[in-house]
Amino acid sequence: MEKNNRKGTVLFSKYTRGEGIKKVLSISREDVLFELRESKLKGRGGAGFPTATKWTIVAAAKSDQKYIICNADEGEPGTFKDRVLLLEYPELVFDGMVIAGYTIGATKGIVYLRGEYEYMLKSLEDYLEQMRKDNLLGKNIIGKKGFEFDIEIRLGSGAYVCGEETALIESLEGNRGEARNRPPYPVNTGFMGKPTVVNNVETLASVPHIIAKGGTWFQKHGTDKSTGSKLFSVSGDCGKPGVYELPWGTKISELLKIVGAENTKAVQVGGASGTCIPKSQFERTLAYEDAATGGSIMIFNESRNMLHILKNFMEFFVEESCGQCTPCRIGNTKLLEGVEMIERGEFTFNYVNQLKELGRTMQVASKCGLGQSSPNSFISILENFKDEIFFQNGNGGTHGK
Ligand SMILES: Cc1cc2nc3c(=O)[nH]c(=O)nc-3n(C[C@H](O)[C@H](O)[C@H](O)COP(=O)(O)O)c2cc1C
Ligand code: SF4
Repeated sequence: MEKNNRKGTVLFSKYTRGEGIKKVLSISREDVLFELRESKLKGRGGAGFPTATKWTIVAAAKSDQKYIICNADEGEPGTFKDRVLLLEYPELVFDGMVIAGYTIGATKGIVYLRGEYEYMLKSLEDYLEQMRKDNLLGKNIIGKKGFEFDIEIRLGSGAYVCGEETALIESLEGNRGEARNRPPYPVNTGFMGKPTVVNNVETLASVPHIIAKGGTWFQKHGTDKSTGSKLFSVSGDCGKPGVYELPWGTKISELLKIVGAENTKAVQVGGASGTCIPKSQFERTLAYEDAATGGSIMIFNESRNMLHILKNFMEFFVEESCGQCTPCRIGNTKLLEGVEMIERGEFTFNYVNQLKELGRTMQVASKCGLGQSSPNSFISILENFKDEIFFQNGNGGTHGK
């Protein structure tokens, strides 16, 4: 298949391996944190937490060991941009980890690599070995006395919930991958009980550019609340699926044009746990303050059945719920049963409304982000496509109340 990677002006701008590391070793930790704050970089893993805040807390923590973890689990349906970064731009990801290590005072970094990406393990290990030979990893990195840092890659085992940072840490510690209660947060009590920064691949890949070119340069791209650019993994009904770097603030309609999408009925922004946007809202912008996404964009044209799409998403959540807490374990099952009842035409509108209420309860009562976000598709698809689902597919309902 033709490769459609579009390079923008931030993340895919020119960068030479080691450039950010060299620069960072000539300035103080406070200066690094200052540049990060200036950049207003927010986490690219979905939640959008300010990166400078996370790093500042761990940098200030008193501990004999601290960790930086690169979250490369990339389990959200429709997301594949971290794969491209790791395969084609490892210098950005690994330099970002070294810079993080220097700033927060960690000597060890761990990449938690999606199990299905095992095929890239060898080339990544070879890359790290070359970094060691070039003294970009190891002891006294490029002559900086006392600065020691190395990176280890660990493979995940295929559970979606293990992308959630506390479940990821449990998995790394050799336990069952289940979310922890928060607080305490990983920045205070993370891997092996030590202060830990967990960052997405793309977040870390943004850091070397910020250090090399300055926080102010980065901040000038995108919008005021969503600075820099974003990698979008675009799939579905379009002529040119692929990974696209676009500035934050790009309209959905603009993106559809760029990727050659026609007769688009719906765009699922943020993966199965995101929101389904109908045609009437295609002028909305991709930004933290509007249609937020960790990167997944799925395009559906007029030929698609929205109820089938919703069923597919709900089956995924029933399968992936870790079962620890009742709202998510039972709630997702009830929502899937509801979709199946609608499919058979055996429902009342009263019951559908109760299920939407159940979804809202799950959003606040579930223990981790999986159950807090899994009802998003259920609610947005039933609300935005009610004409199609309830009146055009012959799903009229038994009572119609
Ligand atoms: C169910 C679930 C799956 C997640 N999967 C990922 C993932 O694959 N990659 C990722 O970076 N963040 C994922 N996250 C978000 C992480 O918990 C965490 O917020 C993120 O790694 C922090 O990095 P950032 O601040 O750089 O975004 C997931 C969250 C949830 C609730
Ligand atoms: S919300 Fe779901 S995935 Fe998260 S702890 Fe509860 S049951 Fe497990």
